[in-house]
Amino acid sequence: RLVPYGPANVMLLEVFNLPVMERIAKLECTKDDIILCTFPKSGTIWVEAIGSSILRAKEGQPIDESAADARRDWLFIDISFRIHDDKYPIDLAEELPHPRMLRTHMSYELLPASARANKTKLIFVHRNIKDTIVSMFSMYGNMKNLSCAHPVKSLEHFAEGFMQDKVHHAPYFHMFKSYWEHRHEPNVHYVSYEQLHEDAPAEIKRLADFMGKPLTEQQAQQIAHYTSFQNMSKNDKLNMEKYLTVNDPVTGEVLFKYMRKGKVANWKEHFSEEMSKKLDDWIERECRKY
Ligand code: A3P
Repeated sequence: RLVPYGPANVMLLEVFNLPVMERIAKLECTKDDIILCTFPKSGTIWVEAIGSSILRAKEGQPIDESAADARRDWLFIDISFRIHDDKYPIDLAEELPHPRMLRTHMSYELLPASARANKTKLIFVHRNIKDTIVSMFSMYGNMKNLSCAHPVKSLEHFAEGFMQDKVHHAPYFHMFKSYWEHRHEPNVHYVSYEQLHEDAPAEIKRLADFMGKPLTEQQAQQIAHYTSFQNMSKNDKLNMEKYLTVNDPVTGEVLFKYMRKGKVANWKEHFSEEMSKKLDDWIERECRKY
């Protein structure tokens, strides 16, 4: 079933491009390629920065400051927008030398067939759904020109739409379940945003082992430091300042930026008890299905 996004998702249906999807399905991936798989607003950019730093680390050498500037060098394969020079990301993906670092918000069954067959390394990042909803609402609510079947009115309205699979990249649980089922396979690595928050060096070491680039304790500490929220949030490039930062037109004060809060359980400051309970019930109902 080639339906990666909620049926009411006007924006993604507009850009949904079957020839590109077919090329993604046929993209040749090897066991050395790495695909970062996330639901939006789960900490993708954080794990990208960590992953890039791990790959650049030299054996036994200290990590230098450039880790803080880890570029978004994981190619996003599922967007069919043209990027530079009239190219689609898939054009670049086909040209990139191996090992490639790709990222996607698509579910497991929509990955390139060869990635599944050849056991390409998959890093799946998960975050507390309520924090993902707050983060997504904050970003979409601040994006201009966002065409969406479920207008971003209030957080509660957005959360209702999230539960009804009306937001971008929904249905959430379809995506989650598709990776969760494979979590014990040796080529699949699960990263929890919350665990990364709690003990970044340990999680970074675990990720590095999985990526086949073991780090020393000191290197893991240094990557944790350079990719901390405090350091990454200062980086205008990572904030995609030109497109996403919203300033007050009068005072110039920053009203929104990509690196918004970077907290665990920030949802507690946003959801009413009633809404939180509604979400818990929905999560429980969905989890009981598998
Ligand atoms: P908040 O909006 O809750 O602050 P994604 O990259 O998948 O879109 O996820 C973005 C979320 O991850 C944002 O959450 C962002 O602040 C958070 N994030 C990005 N880098 C982070 C870091 N180094 N430490 C903690 N959170 C980070």
